[in-house]
Amino acid sequence: MRADVSERTLQQAAVELGVECRVNEPLGPHTTMGVGGPAPFLLLPRDAASLAAVMRELAASGTRYRVLGAGSNLIVADEGVTTPVISCAHLASTIVREGDRVRAGAGILVPRLVREMAGMGLSGLEFAEGIPGSVGGCVRMNAGAGGRWIGDLVREVDVVTPTGGLQRRTPGPGDFGYRRSFVATEHLIVVGALFEGRPEDPATIRERMRDSRAYRLATQPLSERSSGCIFKNPEGGSAGEVLDRLGLKGLSVGGAVLSDVHANFIVNRGGTAADILALAERVKREALDRSGVALTFEVELWRDA
Ligand code: EPU
Repeated sequence: MRADVSERTLQQAAVELGVECRVNEPLGPHTTMGVGGPAPFLLLPRDAASLAAVMRELAASGTRYRVLGAGSNLIVADEGVTTPVISCAHLASTIVREGDRVRAGAGILVPRLVREMAGMGLSGLEFAEGIPGSVGGCVRMNAGAGGRWIGDLVREVDVVTPTGGLQRRTPGPGDFGYRRSFVATEHLIVVGALFEGRPEDPATIRERMRDSRAYRLATQPLSERSSGCIFKNPEGGSAGEVLDRLGLKGLSVGGAVLSDVHANFIVNRGGTAADILALAERVKREALDRSGVALTFEVELWRDA
């Protein structure tokens, strides 16, 4: 087995810690794009304490690892990865109201959090209604839509550090930016976050959720497999608009197609990760050569080649 960690040690540790550990697990089904090879181990801790214990184990053996959320912003190479992967899918899946704030576990999907907050009569997050990510992933990347950002509502973040420490962090100015957060830069793993809500009539909140959903449905290829936007928006512009103006919608490599609904989405119609990455590189080159725009990936790419 391809792995840079001793199979016996990590599996044994997982058993002792009561953490589910799958061996040679295909990662494609764990992502919205649906491509990619296996990880030697997929660990699925259910709470902060067992995640922290796993991190201590990995740190003690100097083992590199990767962290998986809902897989909605991730493309995994066809060859898979050589590192163990920690999945946050089952991590802390509770939503608890604390006054006008709501504490949500990292494994909760954002659309569910938005719906539950609306039901509590707490507004602020409805712009995120259709974001298919998890609380942990969306806090880590400061997901945003319509000029609003998750980070603006986050008051506390519970994290596990790379050495297995547990911390409650209160974000300050500069801790979140465009598709950027202290969580990513400090290599932290989110266990849960506290979101600020504003009391409002649930019907009004639901109306805004409907508007946000309608905009997304009209402008994004939601019925197809994708990883959302492939590239970050260039300063003051939109990557989708740049690529659209170049007439690149519909361009394809194998089963990967640049969406004709939104040019910053690659949709997977039975392609491989290699098809998707080749198309992304082609599109990037065209944007640079013909528009002078240097696009950078917004999606995370996992490859160990
Ligand atoms: N546009 C085109 N052609 C296209 C796509 C867009 O001309 O093919 C134009 C639109 O008409 C509009 C402008 O570009 O005038 C902006 O488009 P849109 O409102 O769709 O927003 P975006 O900048 O392309 C960003 C986020 C999305 C988020 C939307 C909606 C990034 C990289 N993307 O896209 O996030 O859903 O705003 O608020 O910041 C994601 O992160 O995966 C993602 C999809």
